Amino acid sequence: MSVALVTGASTGIGAATAVRLSREPGTELVLVARREELLRELAESLPCRATYLSVDLTAADAPERVRTHLEAEHGGRLDLLVNNAGAAWRGDFAETGYAHVQRHMELNFDAVLRLTESLCRCCGPPPPARSSTSPAPPAGSPAPAPAPTRPASLP
Ligand SMILES: NC(=O)c1ccc[n+]([C@@H]2O[C@H](COP(=O)([O-])OP(=O)(O)OC[C@H]3O[C@@H](n4cnc5c(N)ncnc54)[C@H](OP(=O)(O)O)[C@@H]3O)[C@@H](O)[C@H]2O)c1
Repeated sequence: MSVALVTGASTGIGAATAVRLSREPGTELVLVARREELLRELAESLPCRATYLSVDLTAADAPERVRTHLEAEHGGRLDLLVNNAGAAWRGDFAETGYAHVQRHMELNFDAVLRLTESLCRCCGPPPPARSSTSPAPPAGSPAPAPAPTRPASLP
């Protein structure tokens, strides 16, 4: 069993991601956004267990509310966090000013980091580090390829 949490799951890319993840065997989903009715409809349509939480991720208590939900409904387990919720509001900076920029940062940057920080303690152990006893490559060898950053099973 693995638990995946998708923010911004009420519409668009987040909803599509939830539908895709729901087809992974043994997956449980946590759907997060503000519009509860959309989350409920999506949760009920999915082939796996899915819970949902209506929350404004820019609210001060949002990270705590999400973590509390995860602990109450999924035993505090989290294997995948999809920090998808976000928005873009167009505008000429001369007219909209810094307040407009700040609105973007609160949702697209601050909320992402605050939620990630709050949920870090729920996540399982990190993947094993590469062995430090591996022999060093010969001088002049090309740099090793970077480690994959996403599950290999997802197309
Ligand atoms: N589509 C693109 O071409 C594109 C391009 C670049 C980046 N992106 C980024 O990709 C992500 C998804 O895009 P999309 O096209 O699927 O957008 P979308 O359909 O507008 O979906 C945005 C999602 O974020 C949620 N959300 C917005 N504000 C929120 C808040 N304060 N608290 C909680 N949830 C909030 C919305 O749900 P509620 O309204 O129900 O809260 C919705 O589920 C966004 O971060 C977007 O900025 C998209």
